[in-house]
Amino acid sequence: MSFRQSIPNEITPFNLVIFGGDGDLSKRKIIPAVFHRFADKQIKVDFTIRCISRSLSDEKAFKKMLKEFIQLDLKDKDNDKVIDDFLKRVGLMTIGKNDTESYSELKADLDKTEEYQNVYYFSVPSGAFSEICNTLKDSKLINAKSKVVLEKPLGHDLKSSRAINDIISAAFKEEQIFRIDHYLGKETVQNLMVLRFANHLFERAWNAENIKDIQITVAESLGVEKRAGYYDNTGALLDMMQNHLLQLLCLIAMEPPSSLNPDAIRNEKVKVLQSLRLFDKESIKKNVVRGQYTRGANDGQKLNSYLEDIKQYNSETETFVAIKAHIDNWRWKNTPIYLRTGKRMKRRYSDIVINFKELPHNIFPESKHPLQNKLIIRLQPEERIELVQLSKIPGPGGYRFKPIALKLDFIDSFQDRMPGAYERLIIDVIRGNQTLFMRHDELEAAWIWIESITKYMKKETPLSLYESGTWGPGDEILDENTKWQTK
Ligand code: BG6
Repeated sequence: MSFRQSIPNEITPFNLVIFGGDGDLSKRKIIPAVFHRFADKQIKVDFTIRCISRSLSDEKAFKKMLKEFIQLDLKDKDNDKVIDDFLKRVGLMTIGKNDTESYSELKADLDKTEEYQNVYYFSVPSGAFSEICNTLKDSKLINAKSKVVLEKPLGHDLKSSRAINDIISAAFKEEQIFRIDHYLGKETVQNLMVLRFANHLFERAWNAENIKDIQITVAESLGVEKRAGYYDNTGALLDMMQNHLLQLLCLIAMEPPSSLNPDAIRNEKVKVLQSLRLFDKESIKKNVVRGQYTRGANDGQKLNSYLEDIKQYNSETETFVAIKAHIDNWRWKNTPIYLRTGKRMKRRYSDIVINFKELPHNIFPESKHPLQNKLIIRLQPEERIELVQLSKIPGPGGYRFKPIALKLDFIDSFQDRMPGAYERLIIDVIRGNQTLFMRHDELEAAWIWIESITKYMKKETPLSLYESGTWGPGDEILDENTKWQTK
């Protein structure tokens, strides 16, 4: 898409084909997301959803289960007619590995609506992408209107990510490839761009001259739940840091793009990733901490250790990682960027904290608080922006101070239901708008930085054990006079 082309906005008839259609992500997120857009009448065109499963074949039982998942998230449970209407468009197909015969059946089926666009959603581990992509190609299921959606993590290192990309790119053009990161579909994450680029107030001060440090935290209270197999081969660095946290960092640190055009934005994001300082054998020791949860308790509930959860007692997989990063460019010279994510933390929350520098001169020497502002962008569970500033406590006899937060709660300002991240992203795929999806070079740049960590992390940093239900380790990498914002 050229820089001056307008962003596509039209929703045209589609067939959505979900590989891994009976998986957790499909049942909990992808299908309910399409349902919401349908129920809200944003999708007014004809469409079908085909869920591809390797083993399930009972369509009736499958749809019953889907209905329950859709209802989970509905306030008004009395939605039977709309759900049934929606489910009429959903089908289940069993397709085994390299099962070319079933692919031919799929083709015959999709050819009935030849004028529709076919969107292939790969909601399966990336190890299966190449086989599915090649079989789609050999079965002549890919045409100029087709699109493919790829779930993360794409590979497990730069080499495997490149190999997958080569196969996908041999079948689809870059404008047909949608590498999804659901964090980019969250309303509050999209609002980061508006906060930065539609307001005069912050952008002027958004640089190393005025900002002391930036902290990005994605804390989860849950453990690995039922994903032991996947998680133990992945760990927090690849599951969360390589994608979600780096994407948040890009939006916070990028230069203003010249327009909302997808490539204008992605060009700026890739520059941030390419400017991340790489780690080496020495620097990793002081700047990276990895941890794994042990037994503990939260809200009076006893919690197992990671090893008990995955039923393997020799795993060194990290469930927590904290990194002090640097972006070597003009805007962020020497500004520490602390990134932290972990499972089984005390509470679930994600936020971005911008700690401004102290004022150059203090005319209130009696203040016990540093003269320093803080901008807190809370992404979840409640969506809120807080600007912390010092205020005078009313009363005679000199100045007494208290940090007060100016708060903007989204829930107060926008009463409507917040659409889920997948709703926005799936509609963008159908429209062909790639703004919120990762381009190939972005992914490469992210892998290069991550590989500078994976290369040394296991050897050079000890695995810190932390109790479930606590905030975990990570203080070791903080500069003097810096604390994690934990609330
Ligand atoms: C997924 C990770 O991408 O994001 C999970 O694989 C993690 O491990 C999840 O729990 C967190 O997403 P959210 O939207 O609940 O913050």
